[in-house]
Amino acid sequence: MNKKLISLLGGTGDLGTGLATRLLKAGYKVIIGSRTLEKAQHAERSLGKNTKGLLNKDAALQGEIIILTVPFAHQRGIVEECKTELKGKLFIDTTVPLMPPKVATVQLPSEGSAAEIAQNILGDDVRVVSAFQNISAELLQSDKEIDCDVLVCGNKKEWRQEVIDLVNTLGMKGWHAGMLPNSAAVEAMTSVLISINKHHAISHSGIKVTGLKK
Ligand SMILES: NC(=O)c1ccc[n+]([C@@H]2O[C@H](COP(=O)([O-])OP(=O)(O)OC[C@H]3O[C@@H](n4cnc5c(N)ncnc54)[C@H](OP(=O)(O)O)[C@@H]3O)[C@@H](O)[C@H]2O)c1
Repeated sequence: MNKKLISLLGGTGDLGTGLATRLLKAGYKVIIGSRTLEKAQHAERSLGKNTKGLLNKDAALQGEIIILTVPFAHQRGIVEECKTELKGKLFIDTTVPLMPPKVATVQLPSEGSAAEIAQNILGDDVRVVSAFQNISAELLQSDKEIDCDVLVCGNKKEWRQEVIDLVNTLGMKGWHAGMLPNSAAVEAMTSVLISINKHHAISHSGIKVTGLKK
């Protein structure tokens, strides 16, 4: 089966690089989007074969599936900037509404969640699904096996299923975690995990769903 072309907006950062590394390993071609072509092309050279570096808008236009990996403070801006290019696409939002310096404290936006902010801006023309908020970039960038799960939220089961299939090809386990408003709980969980990391000297705690029938 032909794998879809995946663009990572703000893909030069920690999570973007980590996801790109796993996507490339799984045989995907990726586009790294950036605000500057220089940074995008630098990422293209460091990630190697099957990678292309483009400006965010061009990455949004050319990719078939788009993954957003920018800090919460810049989420709205980049979603608004690329709105036209994102029409008709599957858009995976990884944004966690962390508000430094208190990143270990849950601080959700008035819209409910970062994912709902994206869906409100993009409207019905874009299939917004949230995922990967509880996975550490450091773990994704490493060669280590990933032993934690990915909760996937979105307003249609088939949108979530497409993301779960993608997650599963990366060696993680994806779960249907309900409609987009449920993303609030998943996004909030990241601050809980940051707290656990801090107090138990763990570099990357994660979540695992139990109770699966054998
Ligand atoms: N890091 C993790 O372990 C992790 C785990 C789960 C979820 N997340 C979430 O994933 C998202 C990305 O996290 P990250 O750690 O990868 O962030 P990051 O490395 O700090 O930044 C990612 C990219 O955002 C772009 N950016 C910075 N300022 C911007 C602006 N004003 N406008 C547009 N783009 C801007 C930069 O790309 P250019 O300079 O190339 O444009 C940067 O490389 C966040 O929402 C975070 O909560 C992170």
